[in-house]
Amino acid sequence: MHNWHISEDFEQASKDAADFIEQQILSVLSQQAKCHIALPGGNTPARCLSLLAEKGLPWQQLVWYLGDERCLPEGHAERNDVMLKQQLWSRLESPEVHVIPAERGAEQAAQDYQRVIDAIAPLDIVFLGMGEDGHTASLFPDNPALSDTHSVVAVHNSPKPPPDRVSLGMTTLQNARVRVILASGEGKAGMISHIRNNTPEAVALPVNSVGAIHWFIDKTCLG
Ligand code: 6PG
Repeated sequence: MHNWHISEDFEQASKDAADFIEQQILSVLSQQAKCHIALPGGNTPARCLSLLAEKGLPWQQLVWYLGDERCLPEGHAERNDVMLKQQLWSRLESPEVHVIPAERGAEQAAQDYQRVIDAIAPLDIVFLGMGEDGHTASLFPDNPALSDTHSVVAVHNSPKPPPDRVSLGMTTLQNARVRVILASGEGKAGMISHIRNNTPEAVALPVNSVGAIHWFIDKTCLG
């Protein structure tokens, strides 16, 4: 089901992922006028996004979304949209970005963002991260949000701070045309081994429930 792209190191994996996303964007734009793409939070994607910003893409034909957002005040240093603006959007001329208004609280923000996503679903490309526990976006193992069928869901009691978040729902991730994950580091090697070997522990993991994924990993993830 998954496609594994294994690079020598993190820099190469970031470059390979950025090249792949560029190609996927161009493929979408050969079929339609706009490409709707959701981006990840966390630390891993920063270099990849910075490399993507250097590409010669028709930026005005891209529409940007987030896979998830942390319920923190606007402009807070730990917000995903702050990282995304810093690494990518601030380097583009007037990008069309739909941020998640997580400062309104998880429930209200999920309702508001659901209208944005439902207006354009399915997303063309969803670029995600993976946590060491097998979460993706803000869909964490054993969390009630996993079984919430809304297109955008409120998340509480996240084991990764902050506890309250907003996430694209599982159905939105499953319905996206292409899913890409960039992962690196020994801390993720165990989970990636479970997924690559399709062990019983891997079956119910959120990251392993979204559908086929183009994985970009480096050799630190191979244990
Ligand atoms: C977040 C992200 C989360 C992240 C993974 C991996 O809010 O942190 O949405 O899903 O992608 O936890 O994070 P790292 O890239 O920092 O390891």
